[in-house]
Amino acid sequence: MSTTKYISISSQKGGVGKTTINTLAASIFHFIAKQKVAVIDCDYPQHSLETLREQELEMLKSNPDKLAEFQSLGMQAYPIIGCTVQEALKEAKSMDGEFDLVFIDTPGTINVPGIIELWKQLDYVFMPLESDRLSVEATLPFAQALEAFAKDKPDSRLKQYYAFWNKHIKSEKQDFYQKTEDLFAQLNIPFLKSRLEHSVNYKKDLMRSTMFPLSKEFMRLGISSLITEMSQIIFDLAPTTVDEATLATEETKAP
Ligand SMILES: Nc1ncnc2c1ncn2[C@@H]1O[C@H](COP(=O)(O)OP(=O)(O)O)[C@@H](O)[C@H]1O
Ligand SMILES: [Mg+2]
Repeated sequence: MSTTKYISISSQKGGVGKTTINTLAASIFHFIAKQKVAVIDCDYPQHSLETLREQELEMLKSNPDKLAEFQSLGMQAYPIIGCTVQEALKEAKSMDGEFDLVFIDTPGTINVPGIIELWKQLDYVFMPLESDRLSVEATLPFAQALEAFAKDKPDSRLKQYYAFWNKHIKSEKQDFYQKTEDLFAQLNIPFLKSRLEHSVNYKKDLMRSTMFPLSKEFMRLGISSLITEMSQIIFDLAPTTVDEATLATEETKAP
């Protein structure tokens, strides 16, 4: 039986944090959890992850201090494969048994040849949402398409998809957050408890790195709760660590 887990942070809306969170999750599982991680970037034509890796490799070539810092980590970088959606399915299958976790940054639209076959290769999809109506409206048909075409289908691995808040601002729109969560509950779309705070830190190079671990300072922005909650789902662990107390502490610590 395959032990590789295929994961995508995905949605039908641009700019909600798909690439950011795929990268964060891949880096944390690789550098901190020491899982064997690979990334497939088939978000054509942006290929933002593959481009980011190329830029980081260039930067290391011209910056001996950074190169030394990278070498002192004593770890290889995880592979990032840039390809089309149709190629992604082949790439993903060829990784089966070779990696613990494969993160796939997919295009956010259903109108791409091969996307449904690729969804069927995913074990779990996590859908980031922002607190605006458009983001919610784009997520519902996406979840419905995953349900109709992939979840629990005989030739599919997809077990469940989850929504979660990104760019969360604690002081605003409490009513909107609650109403959206109620609506999703009625539609049987589960929501993660963890939320990623909105923070200017996401613009910093270190935060986007595919080659360096995140500093502790950044882990406070709800990221450790989110990744813990995701790992409990992915590896089918008892939800012992993600409780209200952990989440509350994280939120008070965030700047
Ligand atoms: N929690 C956050 N707080 C602030 N900015 C964020 C957050 N998450 C993502 N961003 C920013 O939002 C923008 C879009 O993110 P990106 O991951 O490229 O979205 P997508 O892949 O869904 O199009 C980027 O500039 C990123 O730095
Ligand atoms: Mg993207």
